Amino acid sequence: VYRMHCATSCDYDVVFTRDVLDPSNRLLAEAVDSRPALIITDRTVHGLLGDRLRAYTEAMHAPVGVLALDLTEHTKTMATVLEICARAEALGLGRRDPLVALGGGICSDVVSVAASLMRRGVPYIAVPTTLIGQVDAGIALKGGVNFSGTKNYLGCFTPPKRVLIDTGFLTSVPRGELSGGFAEIVKMALILDDELFEAVALSGPELIRSGLSAPEGVGETIVKRAVELMLDQLGENCYEDRTLKRLVDFGHTFSPRLEELSGYRLRHGEAVAVDMALTCALATELGAFGEHELETVITTLRSLALPVHSPVCTRAAIDEAIESTTKHRDGTLNLVIPTGIGHATFVDRASDIPAAAVDAALERVTAAAMTSDTSAQLLV
Ligand SMILES: NC(=O)c1ccc[n+]([C@@H]2O[C@H](COP(=O)([O-])OP(=O)(O)OC[C@H]3O[C@@H](n4cnc5c(N)ncnc54)[C@H](O)[C@@H]3O)[C@@H](O)[C@H]2O)c1
Repeated sequence: VYRMHCATSCDYDVVFTRDVLDPSNRLLAEAVDSRPALIITDRTVHGLLGDRLRAYTEAMHAPVGVLALDLTEHTKTMATVLEICARAEALGLGRRDPLVALGGGICSDVVSVAASLMRRGVPYIAVPTTLIGQVDAGIALKGGVNFSGTKNYLGCFTPPKRVLIDTGFLTSVPRGELSGGFAEIVKMALILDDELFEAVALSGPELIRSGLSAPEGVGETIVKRAVELMLDQLGENCYEDRTLKRLVDFGHTFSPRLEELSGYRLRHGEAVAVDMALTCALATELGAFGEHELETVITTLRSLALPVHSPVCTRAAIDEAIESTTKHRDGTLNLVIPTGIGHATFVDRASDIPAAAVDAALERVTAAAMTSDTSAQLLV
């Protein structure tokens, strides 16, 4: 028997910067390293940043192509990945020539899949332009596309070569999308950091109204803390080969099924918020999470204009989600539940959750969604 030791590395830098597309900011040019490259973006982002991007690429003195795609959950597919590969091939990109994802989570998801396939792996640089991209999708290793009705069924673990975060991009992101980003920040805060949770509860609504520019400096501090927490969690288990028990999966047990069932009308961050509200209510039913804390979570989510329930979140949908998640986590549910603000634990098996607790939790979130005090409306 000959044993082969595969040394896999996944070191990369997540760099905070401002004016990333100002030609005087050399960070992106340095990451591309004077090589031919393909920058992939979505049409909306291209409409907003196309002129700046053109000026930047002209100053890069390298043959850099730009591909603006129609990117939605419906086009987050292999067909889009192949379109990226075809353009890269037509440009003549070589083994060490990078793809750059300039856009939200859908953009980084499809670009990292393309990068993992081309020549069995070419460098991929992420420049996330949404809040979800900056605190989650764009800083992580996972790429994915939807396949045959299942969200992220096909995908890869592709560490980016470098991530550049410019919170200045967030000023143009629609409020609804920023709310979705805050769902992912609430996720990290609820399981790991009560101070971050307090900061979000206090300033989140104003940050959303202002495109993260007010109160001054608070947005960047919150984004930095969320990034730090995420990298810390991912670092221990980059390829998910050590364990499928991950705290960062909080809010991601029921949400994929809810997104699928809504035909992707429920956006990712909204589905995560609905999942978190239900899971917190379930934790309360199981005696792990206080009534007062549950109320705080519901109020906070609503103040961020996030839903706490959705019509697609039925008892049948919950059961389907438990079944498909258990398959995804190799036979164990590993449901992350909070035990306090900033603390969490796991419920390993579905059989550890009494059916009556699920029904009662569902009733709680349905009732919470119907209360007339919609602080969410105040925000909009
Ligand atoms: N791979 C991962 O680890 C991971 C983690 C979290 C989420 N995700 C995935 O990310 C996706 C959600 O990401 P998202 O919320 O960024 O979605 P998205 O990429 O669809 O972007 C949301 C919207 O914002 C627009 N937009 C992007 N940047 C903008 C800007 N600067 N100004 C104005 N508009 C802008 C986009 O055109 C789009 O309409 C989901 O598919 C989810 O599954 C992946």
